[in-house]
Amino acid sequence: MAEYVVNGGHRLNGCIDIQGAKNSALPILAAAILCKDQVVLHNCPNLSDVTTSVKILRYLGCTVCCEGSTVVIDSKGMYRCDIPTELMREMRSSIVFLGAILGRFRQAQMSLPGGCEIGPRPIDLHLSSLRQMGVEIDENHGLLDCKIPGALQSADITLSFPSVGATENIMLAAVCSRGVTTITNAAREPEISDLADFLNSCGAKITGAGETTIYIEGVRTLGGTQHIIIPDRIVTSTYMACTAVCGGKLFLKGALQSHSGSVNSVFEQCGCLVDYMPEGIYISSNKNLKKARLVRTMPYPGFPTDAQAPVMAMCCFADGTSVFVENMFESRYKHVDELCRMGAAIYVHDKVAVVEGSRKLYGTTVSAQDLRGGAALVVAALGAEGTTYIKGINHIDRGYENLEVLLSDVGADIKRI
Ligand code: EPZ
Repeated sequence: MAEYVVNGGHRLNGCIDIQGAKNSALPILAAAILCKDQVVLHNCPNLSDVTTSVKILRYLGCTVCCEGSTVVIDSKGMYRCDIPTELMREMRSSIVFLGAILGRFRQAQMSLPGGCEIGPRPIDLHLSSLRQMGVEIDENHGLLDCKIPGALQSADITLSFPSVGATENIMLAAVCSRGVTTITNAAREPEISDLADFLNSCGAKITGAGETTIYIEGVRTLGGTQHIIIPDRIVTSTYMACTAVCGGKLFLKGALQSHSGSVNSVFEQCGCLVDYMPEGIYISSNKNLKKARLVRTMPYPGFPTDAQAPVMAMCCFADGTSVFVENMFESRYKHVDELCRMGAAIYVHDKVAVVEGSRKLYGTTVSAQDLRGGAALVVAALGAEGTTYIKGINHIDRGYENLEVLLSDVGADIKRI
């Protein structure tokens, strides 16, 4: 299995082009199923989760051509409405295909996504919402068997929690159904707005995306389009954390201030200088980091749970004690033990993690347990003294494109072996 070898202590200087957002590309790839004409996606990140989505599209009968960061999808030839278990296991977020397949074929079969490294991944909100739209769903032996006896009905849906995936599944099922479906307490992430922009450019009639109530007026068919995926705000915050611990200055080309506001204020609180330009975000650090008093993960526009691990790694080097509260997932502190192997002092109790900073971290052998926890280990290794071996980097490949190449280009000493 591949691993990273990192020699810490090198300042970073230069420019990094921020990749397209994984959590925007995945639902938009699923949405292409609903389009009767060709879809061209630009700035699509080259990640293993995207590869899995392409495998699912091809299994369903779509033709997909990938050329660099451009992906062309034609779903005319789609003839299947099931997703095999092995593909569902490869990527739990493939549950977002459910709404798209139902919107196209009025039936769908797939296995329950099951839990993952960061904790249980229930889909009760997805299923209760789809049932409100007239979908009959049998769940047995870990399989979902969905059918729509009549037509998909519009519904007024209120989510008890602003679930990103549930919001996306309702949008995909409702966009070609009859009538107007409303989603109250919808997720407000930028990736939701990007999905709505994509669908509207294909002829959908969606308003309110990015706010708490979304209105979807069903249309008969969707055409094709060309769409540029928004930049990845979590990858942006990861490179910001790398700069913070290494010292130096990075220009993150394409990063949008509007997408990462609540994270940027934490970097500023920790003593980094953050400048916003139309073309991207500058961050510079002199390595004298101050603590992050309190970081509570919340639905957007609050502090994103996906940035918790990389920012925690940064706080290990800060002067003082930082406190984290992880409100979104049950076991999203798996990176803590690995950081402690490197000399960090972090104490976890339930949702709270207390980080005693101003520590030197030392290179050793660690292993990534999940995607963002793995990214946190890279941040820590870049700031640590000595050499760190990071195993399990297949987790990191799910969300970061060319991480070691891009970091090496701006001065880091990191190699994939
Ligand atoms: C999306 O996951 C992202 N994944 C996650 O990013 C991200 O952490 C999460 O949103 C929160 O922002 C993709 O977009 C592919 P949720 P999703 O439904 O849709 C509970 C990464 O690292 N819940 O908003 O699964 C759930 O258990 C990944 O890129 C229910 O209880 O997140 C969790 O506690 C990790 N019932 C909370 O809501 C449901 O039916 C947030 O889940 C659905 C969710």
